[in-house]
Amino acid sequence: MKTSEIRERYLKFFIAKKHKVVAPSPLVLENDPTTLFTSSGMQQLVPYLKGEKHPEGKRLVDSQPSIRMQDLDEVADNRHYTFFEMLGNWSLGDYFKAEQLPWVWEFFTKELELDPKRLYVSVFEGYEDVPKDTESFEIWKKIGVPESHIFFYGADKNWWSRAGAPDKMPAGEIGGPDSEIFYEFDTPHDPNFGKFCHPNCDCGRFLEIGNSVFMQYKKLENGKLEELPQKNVDFGGGLERIAAAVNDDPDTYHIDLFAEVVRKIGEEVGVSYNTDSEKNKSFRIIADHLRAAVNLLAEGVVPSNKLQGYALRRLIRRAMFHFHLLGSGISGSAVSFVAEDYRNHYGNVHKNWEFVKENLEVEATRFESALKRGLAKLTHAVSENLEIDGKFAFDLYQTEGFPLELTMEILGQNGMEFSQLQKNTFEAEFEKHKENSRSMSAGIFRGGLESKSDETITRLHTATHLLHAALREILGEHVGQKGSHITSDRLRFDFSHPNKLTQKEIEGVEGLINEKIKANLPVTFAVMSLERAIKEGALHFFAEKYGSEVKVYTIGDKENWFSKEVCGGPHVRNTSEIGGVKIIKQEKIGSGVIRVYAALR
Ligand code: ALA
Repeated sequence: MKTSEIRERYLKFFIAKKHKVVAPSPLVLENDPTTLFTSSGMQQLVPYLKGEKHPEGKRLVDSQPSIRMQDLDEVADNRHYTFFEMLGNWSLGDYFKAEQLPWVWEFFTKELELDPKRLYVSVFEGYEDVPKDTESFEIWKKIGVPESHIFFYGADKNWWSRAGAPDKMPAGEIGGPDSEIFYEFDTPHDPNFGKFCHPNCDCGRFLEIGNSVFMQYKKLENGKLEELPQKNVDFGGGLERIAAAVNDDPDTYHIDLFAEVVRKIGEEVGVSYNTDSEKNKSFRIIADHLRAAVNLLAEGVVPSNKLQGYALRRLIRRAMFHFHLLGSGISGSAVSFVAEDYRNHYGNVHKNWEFVKENLEVEATRFESALKRGLAKLTHAVSENLEIDGKFAFDLYQTEGFPLELTMEILGQNGMEFSQLQKNTFEAEFEKHKENSRSMSAGIFRGGLESKSDETITRLHTATHLLHAALREILGEHVGQKGSHITSDRLRFDFSHPNKLTQKEIEGVEGLINEKIKANLPVTFAVMSLERAIKEGALHFFAEKYGSEVKVYTIGDKENWFSKEVCGGPHVRNTSEIGGVKIIKQEKIGSGVIRVYAALR
């Protein structure tokens, strides 16, 4: 079965159970600095899981493209990705375990016809004041799951929050016990099943294909867990993994989504997939990283040395390096040739292909020259008999993005060894560096949560709408949002326009925004169908794929408005709350895309 068909069937299945389809969030959330990327479907729903009313009601379903950079090193196996799609369904204080578990079971066994004998489930064992989940255990038994297929695990495995187990959750974060479903492949395995090998074992025999989180708790400042005002369900299932279970093939890189890209990689390097396990790793890393990269580029993220741009840069470079390991040249055009098939699977990549292709090729070509410079430095050092130690290798990595594997390979070709000691020095330097970037992301998460209630973000968010409208008025209607990102001290806005703004244009835009702020314009919203929103002239950035209800924010008079946009909010109630706005920087980030930064003043 094609992955697109599984996605369709999933949405239909839950629509029949009275769920409304919500549009998935962008990979980079517009006004949520808590994380670098959207990494699960629940992220856009946090306020509603906490009790706020959702315009679409209490039962929601979607398919959410997600990025998990923390899984980067695991991509080499047959079932991890940095980019994947998560099928999700939610009960916002509506149904609970007794409905959710039988529905998920029905979807897997009836709709997708997975063999129930191959399915295993896990339930929560209990943690501090949170009791053992005997209710889910009884429900699974009633459905007909034999006790030998039901496993209890503790908070490290059967608890879900964005930060992990309860003790890892920062104050304010929500989470709860969960119940997972696993598919068993018919692979060679440890005969001591139950003792050493079990559904959560990493040997590859079991694949987690779904997780029903009973999102019920909030962490308090004092470290205790408090019950949320409502009992929610947050289900997530990896589309690619479900497709692999339907295929009954443990290699998730065999599914239709990857087939053509994997074939093209083979064509480029002259080796085919499944030649040997080392080469397989490189195939998977290339296929995964390029998929993540084109989806990020399609949202207007461009390679840089900071945050999302840096993650994107790493993905592209790593993919390029693995082309090298497979023994092929790494020209920019070859990379975009391979990645182009993803256009057939992702509408956004298709729509923005020219931008994606150009930026992918620019980064790839840049890395190619860096690789050449690194090679020159290295061959020079080799021919001069200079000492090539861990520090040297790390500098090469830092300055040219030259991976250690490559340094070692080249030394090997010259009959030189890289000793364990040198490797340790490299790794020590690397860990130091990694620690820095890790605390950077942790800082974003914490900082974001702290500032989530911050009014500054709300003010910047409304300022973004004013900026969008002002740009269209001053520069013309071709201006359209390509991306937006807000931190606690500035907004960033990417839009379509051929050239950087002149000083006069900047002054004009800034002047118009501040004039509207001074005019005390009301900011109001209404919920309506997307069709009506478009008819009323509301700007809409994300291709809302589904004909669902949307929120439309209007700035100004109902009849004579200045700005109207489809948006989830929140916003200030009156433009005067913004105070004033200043454009602080602008740059051209790709062909026909300009980025401006602005701050409150
Ligand atoms: N939010 C849950 C997850 O990401 C469903 O696994």
